[in-house]
Amino acid sequence: MDQSLCMNGGEGRASYAQNSFVQKQVMSRAMPALQETLGELYLASVPECLKLADLGCSSGPNALLFLREMIDSIDAMRKKLNKKEPTFQIFLNDLFNNDFNNLIRSIPSFYEELRREKGGDFGPCFIAAMPGNFYGRLFPDHSLHFIHSSYSVHWRSQALANLVSEFGSPLNKGHIYLARTTPKSVHEAYLDLFKRDMTLFLKSRSEELILGGRMLFTMIGRDATVNLSEDQVSNIYELLGMTISDMVQEGLIEEEKLDDWNMPIYLPTPKEVRHVIQKEGSFHITRFETFKRSARPEMGDDDLQMRGKYAAATIRAVFESILTTHFGEEIMDGLFEKFASKVSHYMKLHEGEYFNILVSVKNG
Ligand SMILES: C[S@@+](CC[C@H](N)C(=O)[O-])C[C@H]1O[C@@H](n2cnc3c(N)ncnc32)[C@H](O)[C@@H]1O
Repeated sequence: MDQSLCMNGGEGRASYAQNSFVQKQVMSRAMPALQETLGELYLASVPECLKLADLGCSSGPNALLFLREMIDSIDAMRKKLNKKEPTFQIFLNDLFNNDFNNLIRSIPSFYEELRREKGGDFGPCFIAAMPGNFYGRLFPDHSLHFIHSSYSVHWRSQALANLVSEFGSPLNKGHIYLARTTPKSVHEAYLDLFKRDMTLFLKSRSEELILGGRMLFTMIGRDATVNLSEDQVSNIYELLGMTISDMVQEGLIEEEKLDDWNMPIYLPTPKEVRHVIQKEGSFHITRFETFKRSARPEMGDDDLQMRGKYAAATIRAVFESILTTHFGEEIMDGLFEKFASKVSHYMKLHEGEYFNILVSVKNG
């Protein structure tokens, strides 16, 4: 994962920067929780230098959008309390292959905008990149006040491999993620990996945060209360798997490549998330919400073909790097064209939605 995963870099048509509106909507939905969490943190103690981190920041406008919101929240609060503006030290984290160059190039205009809008008594604000894997330690002991992470912790630390029956046949045959016909043992392997990853994530963050420090994260989850009809899929990755399976039938992809591979993501239920936080034990949950966001285009386009293309571009910007590593670059254009058409077809009958989980926790 350290070597192969990155969102599509740059600012071109296929980039994450241009295809992350769903993630932006989720981030905007989390803003009231962000303001509340920062407010409680600031009222509990007013440090001279606030140390904050965004984990899995990627590149593109969303990373700076979140920084701006955080700075504005603190600024509004300190004005209300008639306090001096704190210094900000903000770390942007992602895996080593992330397009940090693009992100860092946008920092001067961000500083400039802050200076222009907030005037001379603001900050200073120091932004730094902190590349590394968040399933492990990234920062010194008790050095941070607040950690944020949006749409990142549903990524797993590895792709599950060698899931075979006692006779050596692949257990998740014909799929790239959990699908209706996936056997229980594969669900269990995914859940087990999720628990191990999240336990390490929580333990690492609790060591990095000060006592009383706060963390807010959102992730894609799974609504266990929904009963799907026969023609519904449980998630958009099932449709992607079906597209790859069609390409196997057409002789464009080797069957073993599909059968051997399981996507390194897991969409947990709210109960699974609560359980892992409580079992790990470092954090106290202060806010826990679920909400849905539509997979419709940002312009609210009802044209089904456009909706399919839009969903495919969103998924491509996120998954192209790991799909290329496994299946090869030459099939990518064809795969996402077919996928867009499958999504449009599906959306004729069903609304595409992401089910999200938002959690705010306090250390200690
Ligand atoms: C969908 S993007 C979300 C980006 C941004 N937070 C947003 O909401 O637009 C998920 C990001 O998490 C990063 N990521 C996944 N696993 C990671 C890990 N173990 N350590 C650090 N970053 C990781 C990915 O590289 C990717 O940039």
